[in-house]
Amino acid sequence: MRLVSTSDCQEGMQLAKAIFNDDGLVLINEGVHLTKKMLERLVNMGITYVYIKDSRTEDIVIPEVLTDATRRLAMETIKEQFSKLSNSGKLLHAAQDPKFIKSFRKSVECIIEDLNNFQGVMSALTNMYSYDQYTFTHSLHVTIYSITLAMAKNYSEKQILEIGLGAMLHDIGKLTTPHEILTKPGKLTEEEFAIIKEHPTTGFEILRKIHEVPFVCAHCAYQHHERENGSGYPRGLKDKEIHDYAKLIGLCDVFDALTSHRSYRKAMPAHQAMEIIFAGSGTLFQKELVELFRDTISLYPVGMTVKLSDGSIGVVIALNKSLPSRPVVRLIKDQMGQATMKEINLAEQLSLVIAGPVSVA
Ligand SMILES: [Fe+2]
Repeated sequence: MRLVSTSDCQEGMQLAKAIFNDDGLVLINEGVHLTKKMLERLVNMGITYVYIKDSRTEDIVIPEVLTDATRRLAMETIKEQFSKLSNSGKLLHAAQDPKFIKSFRKSVECIIEDLNNFQGVMSALTNMYSYDQYTFTHSLHVTIYSITLAMAKNYSEKQILEIGLGAMLHDIGKLTTPHEILTKPGKLTEEEFAIIKEHPTTGFEILRKIHEVPFVCAHCAYQHHERENGSGYPRGLKDKEIHDYAKLIGLCDVFDALTSHRSYRKAMPAHQAMEIIFAGSGTLFQKELVELFRDTISLYPVGMTVKLSDGSIGVVIALNKSLPSRPVVRLIKDQMGQATMKEINLAEQLSLVIAGPVSVA
């Protein structure tokens, strides 16, 4: 099987893994040949990648970062607790219920445990589950990226837990932002953008009043849109004025937002998102953090079909920990377009680079 972006998928391609909705029900079964209508629906549901059957790559094992139980627990927690809060007339009162923080802490602990057990190399996350709200999946992804970077930075266990909680709750202030503004397909007006910009302060106000939430997590919500050069919001903080956790979560937030389908644009491939982040290295984002992200998270997950700089096409079959974006690739077409099955380790073949993902091979 191989991984293909839903926006590049072709009609007739056959699903290698079923697609589930957030209640665990099968939306499209394994083996189904995708139609144009199904593909449009998948994109609209926010699903960015699907596994497609391919006899040349049947033996590839796709490493799962989270166990099914952890993924389900985390998504249920985020969905249930966030929905409860947004439907509550007394949001703050509901958030102060001890069950609220307890369930988030449990989810974060399970994610940390899974990531500690994960032997592989972390790669850009692909939305393969249908969740009805972008904020839910986004909160989970930002948590996974943030904990991965926190571990790579050798933070202590306590710090990793604080970062995980801060990441999972970073956008909690959005629960008071009108849904029409969050999901608006077009450009936001100045007034609408001003309302969006309130969410870090709202999040801070909610979290700082919950006794069981470490105070630093409230600051993660408050500062995750601040930028190194002072161009961020809500306070325009600079450099050392921004907490290190908020810098880390802010970077993961931007990367996941760029690589997800949004109401106003399609998902961007991970390598393009990384280029945008690199362009802001040292100005918007701390340089060392950008480099840590590059050295820790592969832009090309196992299963992805890629084009190499010499024109050949292959599928990523394994990742190299020391050089996450120079994986082992099984070529399926050589530079002349002829079928082949040769394997290349890009960590050794330094003259070749991945030009980008492709859909058809
Ligand atoms: Fe945010």
